Amino acid sequence: MLVKKRLIDNVGILTIDNQSSLNALNYEVLKDLKKTTLSLLNDINVHSIVLTGAGDKAFIAGADIKFMNSLNKKKATEFVQLGHEVASILENSPKPIIAAINGFALGGGCEISLACHIRYASENAKFSQPEVKLGLIPGMGGTQRLAKIVGKGVAFELIIGGQMIDSKEAFRIGLVNKVFPKKSLMEEAIKFSKLLSQNSPEAIKKSIHCINQSNENLFSSGLSKEIDVFSNLFETRETSEGLKAFVEKRKPDFR
Ligand code: CAA
Repeated sequence: MLVKKRLIDNVGILTIDNQSSLNALNYEVLKDLKKTTLSLLNDINVHSIVLTGAGDKAFIAGADIKFMNSLNKKKATEFVQLGHEVASILENSPKPIIAAINGFALGGGCEISLACHIRYASENAKFSQPEVKLGLIPGMGGTQRLAKIVGKGVAFELIIGGQMIDSKEAFRIGLVNKVFPKKSLMEEAIKFSKLLSQNSPEAIKKSIHCINQSNENLFSSGLSKEIDVFSNLFETRETSEGLKAFVEKRKPDFR
């Protein structure tokens, strides 16, 4: 399994474990993440969930670029549709989900964290939406959720700039709720999850539902648009060059 689960009291811990590529997301990882998340959601002993990455370097370093390099438009559509499905399961989970971001949260990794209800980061965490450097756009909801969380101006700067920011800056712009020393991140995420377990589950579920309802129609059509635009890029020279350049460990030649 590329996604592991364990239980600490009533807190379900989900750990993405694909360390040879810094926990990057390919089809198998997303499938496992979906299955394991659903199993925790169906477990009556689980009141809240903490999602993190294995190892001490990455939460999730994005979609698996080597895997994406082999995709055509049809396969790219299937891949991001699954990414959107997983993000939607997390976002609409009636049980609160905290992303414990313990290193790189890049591209699809940052986007998965955006779908969680709360983001706690370690001091060494790094964030970016670097897709433009690969001839892509964010494909797991980032074009819609980032602006909702940090505002449109900052989202533009991060998505079209593609630059990496540290956890201090992520906190300043409201991308993460809190920052902790690396060694206490999980402890703090679990501590807050346990606190949430004392509140009314029905009231938490209804709060999540209502918060997610704001601009729901516009949001859903924005998400569908993103899937179309992302997948269509797989028929362009720039995307093919961007992905190939990463695999060949060189700078892309876009112009
Ligand atoms: N996909 C596939 N493999 C990845 C990866 C990714 N996203 N990120 C890292 N890896 C692999 C590296 O290729 C490397 O593998 P090899 O040992 O086989 O060469 C291994 O993980 C370790 O990485 P590095 O040696 O590069 O480690 P580093 O510390 O020098 O750099 C890094 C770390 C800055 C995260 C760098 O690996 C990097 O820039 N990775 C790519 C990040 C990225 O662009 N993510 C966005 C993907 S696009 C996306 O997510 C689209 C979407 O919205 C759906």
